[in-house]
Amino acid sequence: MVILSVKEMKDIESTAINSLGIPSICLMENAGRMVAERAKEYLTQRCMKNVLIISGKGNNGGDGYVAARYLHNNGYDVKVFLTSNSALITGDAKKNLDIIMNMGIFVAEIIQKEQLKFLEKNLKECDLIIDAIYGIGLRGEISGNTKEIIEMLNQSNKHIISVDVPSGINADTGHIESCGVKACETVTMQYIKKGLVVYPGVEYCGEITVADIGIPKDIIEQYRNKYNVITKQDVRIKERDKNTHKGDYGKVLIIAGSKNMTGAAYLCAQSAIKTGCGLVRLAVPKTIQHILQGRLSEIITHGIKDEDGTFFSESAEEVMALASDCDVIAIGPGITNSERIRAFLKRIINSINKPMVIDADGLNALCGSLGIITGKDLILTPHYGEMSRLSGISIDDIKNNTLKSVSDFVDRYMVTLVLKGSRTVIGNKAKGIYINKTGNPGMATAGSGDVLTGMIASFMAQGYDCVDAAKYGVYYHGKAGDMAEEKYGELSLTASNIIEFIHEALKTGK
Ligand code: ACO
Repeated sequence: MVILSVKEMKDIESTAINSLGIPSICLMENAGRMVAERAKEYLTQRCMKNVLIISGKGNNGGDGYVAARYLHNNGYDVKVFLTSNSALITGDAKKNLDIIMNMGIFVAEIIQKEQLKFLEKNLKECDLIIDAIYGIGLRGEISGNTKEIIEMLNQSNKHIISVDVPSGINADTGHIESCGVKACETVTMQYIKKGLVVYPGVEYCGEITVADIGIPKDIIEQYRNKYNVITKQDVRIKERDKNTHKGDYGKVLIIAGSKNMTGAAYLCAQSAIKTGCGLVRLAVPKTIQHILQGRLSEIITHGIKDEDGTFFSESAEEVMALASDCDVIAIGPGITNSERIRAFLKRIINSINKPMVIDADGLNALCGSLGIITGKDLILTPHYGEMSRLSGISIDDIKNNTLKSVSDFVDRYMVTLVLKGSRTVIGNKAKGIYINKTGNPGMATAGSGDVLTGMIASFMAQGYDCVDAAKYGVYYHGKAGDMAEEKYGELSLTASNIIEFIHEALKTGK
């Protein structure tokens, strides 16, 4: 599924209009008609009649006037309200506004404070609202009357269809520009915009329909693969050969755990074996080996020389010897964060030249030393806090521009990044950005990340490259979490419950 930035969408529209000669008013006609079609579907199913369209000054408003014409022609009662002085409306939007005024469709300006009451009365009487205030042309924060209007729309409890982008949502970043329309659905034109798939924008869109407005597909080719949503087709599970053995599915070495965090090592190792790799070796501080050996029947545990129940610099030799016999290394869950651990981790990361997943305290060790991983075949799996420490960018700035933060990081360090969040984002310089839609808030629980690390490492060991392993891991981790949430509910869901459903989640990929 292709996702575009505002600039890319504008470039595509400009190519369609200026190079191919498609009149811009035709694109507006198609956009408005598609919105009217969706509105008709909603109204017909409910035997409803009254539509209120609220239009801004630009071309998004123009789509609203076209929709008004089609709905009026189909016998619906349509009222159009303008958030701007009609004398300021120009171009294609003005032409379509003139048409509906000539047709006698009700049009009223809401530009004075006193006119808000009139809008409020009409909002109470309508069955459906079409929001055509701002689309991809929104620049900066919304203030004044329009802000109040948006708040009124949100309080109306009516079904709202937004045109292209819910008004107030930055179509690039998903940022709310002081206020935003909480749409029940969004009819977005031709391609999904970046701001509609990341938080907080994603919460304002409702269900998204992508409408074909007649832009030729060839124009899009150069933009393919930059931003993508992971779909079921992207993560099909390969059938195993009948004539096969465990050596065909790879060996994972997990370096994890400390005296107070045996669970992280357990969850990571158990997830890896449940996800299909042939063999898992688990390297843990010697002090805790007996605990893990007792709990993990299918995993080979290795007790490594430790100091006070944690790894230290002298643990490195033994771990490196184990790594030489494995295909993929996962490092970080539960190893704690101290100067001596960081020294141990840096040595390991520097010396082992194998595909690697680095999580949790493994990431803390990299802060300020990202040079040692640049260009390597490895995956980093930070949450927002870890990403902030790694990149030096504040959590708020990462949240406000998630896709750009991921893109900038992977362009600079040339590794695969998995930024964990409500919508986990995977980035790789060569292969683009992937956004995951599986998962639920119940998965925000201790150990959930350790499970993901084990799953990604397992896919890598089975022969998937870094980006595919990350895509498969993130998608099926979310899927297993969704299944666990159905059984246990959001509050009671634990990391062990996610593991319990890995097998069911993987079956959906066959
Ligand atoms: N506060 C107050 N006013 C604001 C703010 C703000 N924060 N931000 C923007 N505005 C106003 C500006 O005055 C701006 O008008 P200006 O460009 O004349 O200054 C206006 O809002 C622009 O808002 P939009 O309607 O969102 O922007 P635009 O006119 O670029 O249209 C578009 C967006 C193209 C309709 C897009 O949402 C889309 O792709 N729709 C589907 C395709 C379509 O209908 N295309 C139309 C024809 S093709 C074309 O226009 C290139």
